Amino acid sequence: MLKLSERIMMAAEMVRNGSVAADIGTDHAYLPAWLVLNGKCPKALACDLRKGPLDNAKKTVEQYGVADKITLRLSDGFDKIESTDADDFIMCGMGGTLMTELVSRTDWLKAPQKLLIIQPQSHAEDIRSYLINNGFEIIKENACSDNGKLYCAFCAEWTGSAKEYSEGYIYYGRLPECDSPEAKQYLIKIVNRLKKKLDAEEKHGTEDKAAYLRRIISETEEKINDM
Ligand SMILES: C[S@@+](CC[C@H](N)C(=O)[O-])C[C@H]1O[C@@H](n2cnc3c(N)ncnc32)[C@H](O)[C@@H]1O
Repeated sequence: MLKLSERIMMAAEMVRNGSVAADIGTDHAYLPAWLVLNGKCPKALACDLRKGPLDNAKKTVEQYGVADKITLRLSDGFDKIESTDADDFIMCGMGGTLMTELVSRTDWLKAPQKLLIIQPQSHAEDIRSYLINNGFEIIKENACSDNGKLYCAFCAEWTGSAKEYSEGYIYYGRLPECDSPEAKQYLIKIVNRLKKKLDAEEKHGTEDKAAYLRRIISETEEKINDM
């Protein structure tokens, strides 16, 4: 039976039962194969920018006997995907900056019935910031430890309303609401990174940027203390 890593499982758990899912940057198509094999999705799309990863995906779907339920598609981000192809759109293991670029050029994702499931490898604040400033709302977030590394994942949907968020939100999202030691550890990791940035900023940067970093560090630390 196909077993997912903790990191990908965290994203799989956010996929809605009965939805058609599209995995963008799928590589081996483990996630769409698992979703179909476990009856969570009747069918799925496995999409990647490059042919090599899609060849890996083809091997997986054939090995697990789900080739008739999974469409393989060469696509740069969402470029070769139609809004009607899927309900839930997953991006795992890519940097938050690239994810932002891909989502921002896909206007049809701004539809209330679509769900975005995001597991950023880095720069999660970039994609959180894009989403909340463009009418999306983060509805659920989680963190896990996988092979000694900490990861976060969240899902978001478009509401079209512009809510007010505090300055640090793009760094901690809804993780303070998670009742898990991994979420707390993940936020501690984020604060430690921000402290290193602050250190560099205080030595070689500007007072404005240093002041900004101090504010978001203090806000995130407050959230951690309340967890
Ligand atoms: C690090 S792998 C992640 C694979 C899998 N999603 C995971 O989380 O384990 C990143 C994958 O994204 C693909 N990728 C990179 N840029 C992409 C883009 N613009 N559009 C679609 N796929 C892309 C790469 O080819 C690669 O297969």
